Order: sequence, then C-alpha cells, then structure tokens
Amino acid sequence: MSDQKQSALGLQLLRRHLDERAAQGKSRVWLTDRALEQVGTLPQRARAAAARATRDQHPQPIATSDTPPVPTGDRRSQLDAINASAESCQSCRELGTLRDTMVFAVGSPDAELMFVGEAPGYEEERQREPFVGKAGQLLDKIITAMGLQREDIYLSNIVKFRPDTGAADQGTSDRKPTADEMAASVGYLRAEIAIVKPKLIVALGGAAMEGLLGLDGSVGRARGKVYTIDGHPAIVTYHPAYLLRTDSNDDKRLLWEDMLIALEHLGLPISDKQRGFFKK
Ligand code: URA
Repeated sequence: MSDQKQSALGLQLLRRHLDERAAQGKSRVWLTDRALEQVGTLPQRARAAAARATRDQHPQPIATSDTPPVPTGDRRSQLDAINASAESCQSCRELGTLRDTMVFAVGSPDAELMFVGEAPGYEEERQREPFVGKAGQLLDKIITAMGLQREDIYLSNIVKFRPDTGAADQGTSDRKPTADEMAASVGYLRAEIAIVKPKLIVALGGAAMEGLLGLDGSVGRARGKVYTIDGHPAIVTYHPAYLLRTDSNDDKRLLWEDMLIALEHLGLPISDKQRGFFKK
C-alpha cells in the first residue's frame, strides 16, 4: 500500500475509533507514546506522500512555476528587473528549503558565453556573487586559460538561494539543490538566457545538466554533444568542484576538451599550446 493510502486509512481508523468512543459517551481517549507520535505526524506524512505522488507523475525537472515575463529596455535593465523579481521568488520561498539571501548572476549582459552552475554555496552567499569560492577560483583559471576574462562572460546558477541543510548552524556546509528547488527557480535563468542570448551555454555538472536540460545520467555520457535550450546551443561539462575532488588529470583534460569545443563554437582563436593543455 502506498504511504498516501496508508495515511488516509490511518486517519479513517482513528476517526472511527473516536466516533465510537464519543457514541459511548466518552470524551477522552488514552494513547501510548508511540500512538501519540504516529498521530502527530499523520498530516505531515500525508502531505509528503501527496507531494511525492505529484512529483512522480511530473518527472520533468524543467517544469517551473515562476517564469517571469521579460520586460522591455536594454539588456542591463532587463536583467535588473529579473534580478528584482527573483528576490521575491514565491515558488522558491514556499519550498522552505532554501536560505534567505538571493545570489543572482554576474558578468556581461552582452556575453557570448554563459556558464551555469547549480546554486550558491557558503562563499557565494557571503559575497552575494556566483562562483567566488574554491570552485569559482578554478573556473576563473579555466576562463583565463581560454584567453577570456570573467567580466566578458555571464555566470549564473539555476537556483538563486543557497540550499538549506536544515542544521541549526549550517556553517560552511553546502548541498546540491533538489529537483523541486531547480524547477521552482529555473524560470529566472531561462529569462536571463532570453535576455543575454549567449552564443553558447555551458552547464556545469550533473545538477545544472538535469535542471536546465532535463537530462539525467552521468555528465561523462552527456558531454561532447551540443544541445539546445530555448533555441540556444548548450553543452555539458564537469563542475569545477568535481575536478577539485577528483584531482584527476584525465578529468581535467576532458573538461578542457569541452572548453576547446566552446572556443571553436564561438569562433575564437586556439593556439597549439592551448590545444595541448592536460594532454598526456
Ligand atoms: N557552485 C555552483 O554551482 N555555483 C556557484 O555559484 C558556486 C559553486
């Protein structure tokens, strides 16, 4: 029996028992500690089971409740308007699983290249800027190795609020955003894409790949192909945080090959030295 049916049945039995006791003229019932605990959590369990059932029927992570209309004006003022509306993202706040400080995006509104990560972490929340922690510093090195500058690129995340770990003091702990958190937020990113109109989007890591492109499976299998999101070309590569964890030259080379594809796609020059980075 599903959790949802079990909870409904539990409530029905409890109701029947209380009605019988009332018919016998009893106004009190005695519950064991265990029964009391079970009764107390029935509504939450029923709600969680209903949410799970709904999610299972609608597995596409790209579905989103908040897709703000793109206002008129130049790109900078359009992005400012999306930034302001993301701050009060109803569907994000309603989840109750994200922290309060919004971290929007950084970079050029006219960028040809857009990097998309998953969500801000500790350092990003502190500085209110995407990709400024350790993974961001590695991304900066990658951008420099490409012969580009951070200011020329647009850096954003699917989720604009740091995911809450539920700890009383979260400290520097971070977690990946859930599919629900990405679905609630991705409309803002799609509005940013519609405004910036990058020539290429790079989804960094599995969460960005899932949340933005609706792809599951491994990054290893998804990389090396060009996808489209709302008519804009997109590729998938490893998240810099993954490279920091594995510290593998092979993984560095694979990411670098994706950056060579990006440079080629943008029609930018590539030196022989660049072509050889991380080659064995
Ligand atoms: N990881 C991300 O995906 N985004 C950030 O902004 C920082 C780390």
